[in-house]
Amino acid sequence: MIRLISIVVLLALAALFIHCSSSNLHNPPEQQFRIGASTVGIQSVATHLNVPWQIAWGPDQQIWYTEQSGSISKVNPENGQIKHLLKLTDVFRDRTSGLLGMTLHPDFKAHPYVFINYTGYSKEKKRVSRVVRYNYEAAKDTLVNPMLFLEYPAWTSHFGSRIVIASDGKVMISTGDGAQDDNAQNINSPNGKILRYNLDGSIPADNPFKNNPVWAWGLRNPQGLVAVGNKVYCSEHGDATDDEVNLVKKGANYGWPVVEGYVNTDKEKLFARDSMVTEPLKAWTPTIAPAGMTYYASSKIPELKGSLLLTTLKGNSLRALKLNTTGTALVKDVSYFEKAFGRLRSVCVSPAGDIYVTTSNRDWNPNAVAGKNDDRILRIYLLDAKLVSASVKSAVVKPKTPIASNKGALLYTNYCASCHKEDGKGIPNVFPALAKAAIVAGPKAPMLQTVLNGRKQMPKFSFLNDKDLAILLTYVRHKFGQSGPVSDTDVKTARH
Ligand code: HEC
Repeated sequence: MIRLISIVVLLALAALFIHCSSSNLHNPPEQQFRIGASTVGIQSVATHLNVPWQIAWGPDQQIWYTEQSGSISKVNPENGQIKHLLKLTDVFRDRTSGLLGMTLHPDFKAHPYVFINYTGYSKEKKRVSRVVRYNYEAAKDTLVNPMLFLEYPAWTSHFGSRIVIASDGKVMISTGDGAQDDNAQNINSPNGKILRYNLDGSIPADNPFKNNPVWAWGLRNPQGLVAVGNKVYCSEHGDATDDEVNLVKKGANYGWPVVEGYVNTDKEKLFARDSMVTEPLKAWTPTIAPAGMTYYASSKIPELKGSLLLTTLKGNSLRALKLNTTGTALVKDVSYFEKAFGRLRSVCVSPAGDIYVTTSNRDWNPNAVAGKNDDRILRIYLLDAKLVSASVKSAVVKPKTPIASNKGALLYTNYCASCHKEDGKGIPNVFPALAKAAIVAGPKAPMLQTVLNGRKQMPKFSFLNDKDLAILLTYVRHKFGQSGPVSDTDVKTARH
């Protein structure tokens, strides 16, 4: 009997040890990568999560996180122990809706507030986004006294929903346009905006429009927001082109849905002249699907110091966007860990300079591929020289050099493969196959119209010039339809 008990105790101890070991800083990393002269280790701090949407470093040295279905928890990064704080019961979750953004007040002692943003239904059965402010009660380690801070319209996508407390103590909220094109340019709609409030939910007297929470507008789906010194930056998803990072300025119009990315087409120039459009610090085409963003102020990993850290979903990477000394421009953009962990959604940095990111491989996106431990919170930390292995791979994946003769394949990879897949087989019931599709094998005109104008979930590609579109579509027709080429003139004619 005693023997049995001691075996059970031993097993329990072993289980405890195994549970704790994975996230302990003193243990060997699961993977390691080189960032310039630094080598970083990767450890899983939490596994098997249900789409962690936001992580935040707490004043209690714990990582607070939301999961899309409605729970708020925290994990001890030292030993992986999880404490569940709250399960919301009125969250409506489907593809991209649910419990999303969260922020803790940076001066938690004076203002023990936790703000969250989630989708639910109003009394009138309308879909809404809610921002709720909770009080943290330290003695009981729990969230109490929810106050409905804000309720605004929501549709079926484009929720934005990050929250930050700016250096002046104001609450800034990034809202999505709900995929309703009229919202972003309407300053009386809270959607497609950066909103600004006082901590009690009232509207600051120095907002650009009287009695209006709108601080900046013309945004599509801003899923990243960070305060750095007295500046605020947001990231946003473009449509088929032009994902952006913007420096958020008082009263600025970022142009959506008329201006995408920089002001460079005739239509955009005309609109920008009349409507004072502010250009992004950076725009990405092909798109990367930028999400959570934070700032790396630490010297721990010197290569990253002074950079905005941006997680990307489609891009499967963590980008470091180096700011100039005044914070008004980006001087460098390096993409790290591409495809190493899959889709990345949220990022935070500990005071010690360790970086934490969340994977989003169990979310709605049909391109998400979940590993057995997903979704995870990962630690990326400077590795002790003793633990560095001889053959560390670089965290920067060299881009495949385009082969000039295969420009069609490259354009297809950049613009079409994320949905229709490299092999043209698409995803059943989501993205139709192009391989052997009648429209690809048949006459050119219907295919040209589909690609130029878009259709339902497919964005329009009229921004590509005649020559590139001809090369791209010739490739698609040859490879997937065994049909004839498309010429520049075909494209030009189809535009009219
Ligand atoms: C964001 C995902 C997405 C991207 C990127 C995308 N498509 Fe599509 N595509 C779709 C969807 C969804 C449909 C089906 C639309 C519908 O329901 O009518 C579609 C339909 C099509 C069709 C019609 C298929 C048929 O059988 O009727 C063609 C042709 C096509 N896409 C070509 C392209 C090409 C070429 C590109 C790259 C330039 C591209 N698509 C990029 C999502 C995408």
